Parts: sequence; C-alpha cells; structure tokens
Amino acid sequence: DAIEFGLDAPVEVEYHDSIGSTNERARELADEGRTDLAVVADEQTAGRGRLDRGWSGPSGGIYCSLLIRPDAPPAHAPVYTLAAAVAVTTAAREGGVDASIKWPNDVLVGESGERGGKKLCGILTEMEGEADRVKWLIVGIGINANVDTDMLPEGATSLQAERGEPFDRRRFTQRLLETFDGLRSDPDSILDAWREHAATIGQRVRVDTPGGEIVGEAVDVEFPGALIVETDDGERRRVTAGDCEHLRP
Ligand code: BTN
Repeated sequence: DAIEFGLDAPVEVEYHDSIGSTNERARELADEGRTDLAVVADEQTAGRGRLDRGWSGPSGGIYCSLLIRPDAPPAHAPVYTLAAAVAVTTAAREGGVDASIKWPNDVLVGESGERGGKKLCGILTEMEGEADRVKWLIVGIGINANVDTDMLPEGATSLQAERGEPFDRRRFTQRLLETFDGLRSDPDSILDAWREHAATIGQRVRVDTPGGEIVGEAVDVEFPGALIVETDDGERRRVTAGDCEHLRP
C-alpha cells in the first residue's frame, strides 16, 4: 500500500513501508505503460540482487527503483547504472560520508587497498528493448541507510554506521532523485560525473572478465561504461563486464 512519502522530487514517488521488491513493483508499473517514477520502500521482503542472488532488505534501508524510458538504444543502458552510482555517492558525500565508486557501480566507503572498501549500496538494472530502442529501464538501488551492520552481510556498511548517527532518508532520497534526474537529461555528462566520484581510475586493478583475468592500471572509462585498463605490457584493454578489485600499488 503506497502512502505519501512527502518529497518534492523531480519524479512521482510511490512509497511503501514494506514491499516484496521495488524492482518487481516498478516492473508492474512499466507493464501498465507508466514512466518517470520511483518506487521507494523502507523494507523489502523479497529483494533481488545481481546474478540471481537475493538482497536482504531490513527496515531502515532505502530501496528505490527508478523507471525511465530513455530515447536510446539498449546498448546505452549501462550509463544509467553509472548515473545511479554517482547519485548515491553524491547524496552520501553531502551527508558527510566519504563514499566513492568502484567500477562499474559499487558504492563503497574506504575503498583503497586490497579488500578495502565496504559496500554501501547495490544496483540492479533491468531492461526491455524494442527493436533498437529501450522500451523501459528499471534501475534498482538498495542503500544500507539506517541499518545496523549486524543486519548486513560481511563486508557491508551503512550510512548510519559510517556517520555514527542516522540519516534523514527523505532528504537522501530527494538528493538521489534530483541528481539522477539531472544526469539522465544530459547523458554526455554522466561519464565526467562518474570520473569525479570514482575511486577506480588511477588504481591498479584486477578485473575478472568473462574472457579471463586482466591486471593493470585503470586509466579511464568510456561510453557507455567500459573500463580502460593498461596492462603491464602496455596494451590498452577495453573491459565491458566483470568484477573489479583494487590492488595495492
Ligand atoms: C547487487 O546484487 O549488488 C544489486 C542489489 C540491488 C538491490 C536493489 S534494492 C531495490 C531494488 N529492488 C530489488 O529487488 N533489488 C534492487
């Protein structure tokens, strides 16, 4: 049951105290032909993560799914996931938590060094294409906001734990939605914003890709979100998918 969340947001917000999965709900709304809205919940009982994993959803989190229909080919979808990571990082920094992005879209606190960062947020993007255009895109964002770390998986942290006091979740959500809205209306600005908020560029990385492991220095990111890695033998590799780890220099 949706109730008033009381936000002055750039898009319509459907708020739920508790829901199975905001991505599922956004999908229903997509099937009804809706767009430009956010489904937000305080608790999720059947949250979904990447790679068919679940995503725990204790009360006090910010579970948010953005439904948009960008006028873009399906191949451009990754850039909207990067934009969501920038939006989360921006809102966290404004609230005094020094977050940064690990390629492509992990939002971490204390990211430097091997096994360094603790995960603050996960993002699951789902899409349906229609010929050469996106039909709908759902960017699902799970933020560990005012959640005790003992409720979270190993290696995760929360906004509250990092700042030592709870966050105003309405304000955080508002800044998240505003930042995302600004970026998506100007997709060319997303990569610059990502570079500004990312920890990965300039780091020595190991990326586990479907085609094997690549080790080298992360030198740049290219549209719509590929990581450019310079390997030790001077080769420039363009990585579009994989798990990235920051290594100690
Ligand atoms: C990951 O595996 O890192 C991504 C997790 C994404 C979780 C969010 S919470 C809001 C939205 N609704 C879901 O069911 N999943 C996403």
